[in-house]
Amino acid sequence: MKTTNRIVAAAVAAFALSAFAGPPPPKKEGIEAKGYKWNAQEGEKIEALKLKGDAKRGEEAYEVCSACHLPSGAGRADGTFPQLAGQHSTVLIKQIADIRGGLRDNPIMYPFATTLTDPQELADVAAYIETMKIPRDNGRGPGTDLETGKKLYLRDCQTCHMANGEGERDKFYPVLAGQHYKYMLRQATEIRDGKRRNANPDMVKVIKTYSDKEIDAIVDYMSRLEMPTHDAAPKAKKK
Ligand code: HEC
Ligand code: HEC
Repeated sequence: MKTTNRIVAAAVAAFALSAFAGPPPPKKEGIEAKGYKWNAQEGEKIEALKLKGDAKRGEEAYEVCSACHLPSGAGRADGTFPQLAGQHSTVLIKQIADIRGGLRDNPIMYPFATTLTDPQELADVAAYIETMKIPRDNGRGPGTDLETGKKLYLRDCQTCHMANGEGERDKFYPVLAGQHYKYMLRQATEIRDGKRRNANPDMVKVIKTYSDKEIDAIVDYMSRLEMPTHDAAPKAKKK
């Protein structure tokens, strides 16, 4: 893709952001509802998960996304836009489908998420993002209490997010290595407070008891995780 195209895409996105007056995002019942089932296998998500994504086509679909997440996928250290590069395609598909379906509130991105026309395009864009290199210069925390952060991470988080932040593709556990401190701080707080409505209840159970200070320490520690093969997410296990 040419740089000029990217600039045009960014300008169009910025314009649409300021002028968008379409229907509001849908709202689907999430973790606040009694019968909430995390990661229910339904809708366009399961369609997209069954398809083989085409990274080449996905690169085109990603053009509109690059306005916020950047052409490199690295997002911004100030936490406004998450780092996406190298994320498991399963996680990407789930998160985008949740945003499109109103299970994860993201009014800023919603109008752009709707530019993906069908499950195939969802699979394509996820396949493309997964091929991007995870940056090494992500935003990190102040490093003031890494001892506490490490202790809590090993005790409460590593069973799912793994020792180096690899996550687990088949279980929809995201890669956290290379993610920005400020973004994770906001997410972890929202997860604790029940505001990230597509969250995993087993994770909420452990985070619930944390103080702001503990969340800060743990996220600071997480922002320094690097995987042995840091440039890309671990591949799917052979079945
Ligand atoms: C106008 C800016 C904007 C655009 C354009 C945009 N996003 Fe986002 N995106 C965001 C914001 C803001 C968040 C984080 C919201 C939050 O804090 O929960 C996000 C979150 C995400 C997430 C969740 C990441 C995670 O770690 O859970 C994914 C995946 C994603 N975006 C993919 C895309 C794709 C694919 C496109 C293009 C079709 C796109 N975004 C376009 C602003 C944008
Ligand atoms: C039972 C497994 C599990 C445990 C334990 C767990 N997590 Fe998670 N975590 C997840 C899943 C699954 C997601 C994605 C949630 C979703 O589906 O939307 C996630 C998402 C996150 C995110 C947001 C990532 C993003 O890209 O938006 C943060 C931050 C996070 N976890 C922090 C933690 C911390 C801190 C702990 C330990 C206190 C923890 N998690 C423990 C499963 C877990």
